[in-house]
Amino acid sequence: MRLRIRPGSAVGGHARVPGDKSIAHRWLILASTARGRSRLAGMPGGLDVRSTAACMAVLAPKPRPALETWLHLHRDRGADERQGRGFTWNLNAGENPPDASTLDLVLEGDGRNALAEPPKRLDCENSGTTLRLLTGLLAPAPFTSLLAGDASLNARPMERIAEPLRAMGAVIDTTDGHPPVRVDPVGELHGITWEDGTPSAQVKSAILLAGTAASGSTTVVEPVTTRDHTERALQALGGPVRIEGRSVTVEAFQHQGFSGTVPGDPSSAAFLVAAAALTGAELHIEGVGLNPTRTRFLAVMERMGIPLTTELDGEEVGEPVGAIHVGRAGALRATTVDVDELPLVIDEVPVLAAVAAHADGVTRFRGAGELKVKESDRLSAVVEGLRGLGGDAEVEDEDLAVTGGGLPGGNAGSGGDHRIGMAFVVAALAASGTSEVEGIEHTEVSFPGFAPALGALGADLEEA
Ligand code: S3P
Repeated sequence: MRLRIRPGSAVGGHARVPGDKSIAHRWLILASTARGRSRLAGMPGGLDVRSTAACMAVLAPKPRPALETWLHLHRDRGADERQGRGFTWNLNAGENPPDASTLDLVLEGDGRNALAEPPKRLDCENSGTTLRLLTGLLAPAPFTSLLAGDASLNARPMERIAEPLRAMGAVIDTTDGHPPVRVDPVGELHGITWEDGTPSAQVKSAILLAGTAASGSTTVVEPVTTRDHTERALQALGGPVRIEGRSVTVEAFQHQGFSGTVPGDPSSAAFLVAAAALTGAELHIEGVGLNPTRTRFLAVMERMGIPLTTELDGEEVGEPVGAIHVGRAGALRATTVDVDELPLVIDEVPVLAAVAAHADGVTRFRGAGELKVKESDRLSAVVEGLRGLGGDAEVEDEDLAVTGGGLPGGNAGSGGDHRIGMAFVVAALAASGTSEVEGIEHTEVSFPGFAPALGALGADLEEA
């Protein structure tokens, strides 16, 4: 699907964004393996989250019917039409966001020991978080699991999770370091202390999920801080979790059911914040997650000259929730994101690059090599797309440099990557001419209803 973007509109007002993808994966896994009833509100219907729900429906017999009904309702509401299966959006629907996340998902769990052997390979589709977290969950299981995904996921590195899990006693084979990943049964896993691995919340979470069913203590010491949703959830569920600086320790425990509303996804909000700032509008986003391991992009945007305030309203299962207010931005300036800051904006680099293309000067992202192994090679994708829109950017080893000064507009593609597609749409909103972005249906992976949400805020968009 191709989107035509005409510049000149102000993208502002009031918005909400679909629930946080990272939190949703974790709460789905934890609710499906809880002993007792959980009620999850605001569960987003993005494709990645549905991949986790579908895998848990295969693995967890008792919650299966509820998960299947939830998956079915999302399909029926037309949120899941993938490329080539009649994907349509009503860009004038005026709903923001138009999804089925108003439904509560009630799951009755029988505990982690009730997980059943998957009869066939678990299909994680495009979702690295699904595959990596489930490998950790299944490492202590008394049966064999085979996990794989689509072509993009099957090209992504998995030894980073296999290695620490093997150190705990797990039997795991990757395919030349990639999926399919095979997890074979073992007796009992034992705790380890894991230091100096890849800075990755997915790796940390895989180890912690295995650690909650291992003997002794399991500690992950991170080289730099990454998102901490897993440890927050385990702690909120009463688990034996100790957090000291960049070290987190868990011990074995079986949690009970829980209730919560998934906060809006700050990584999705980042696209709306950028759209408002680049079109000189004011925007208020409510009900969004304000976990400090996720909101660093706001600090980067402030350095670039975007006036931002946040307001904390409460907490959901250990996650801070509140509002983001974007003031009217004037001229924007370049900034540098250093190697220590980068993991805290790992998913926002494409949208920050879109803002950087309109700022004064050259913005640098240092030590961004990890972006080469995301849903696409995001460094090359940013360079290609910004050049397609008439701008300039380049990659030097692990660094990305984006030249500012504005964009004349042109053509760019998502390359099958949700965040890349959204970044170019946002960049195009402030171009001097009309642009087209191809492959926009992939935005359903994390931000269901992205284009209609932008349209409802005033963006001038149409299907090309
Ligand atoms: C995620 C962690 C990040 C992020 C991904 C979601 C998570 O990956 O890029 O979109 O939910 O744990 P890494 O931790 O592997 O960098």
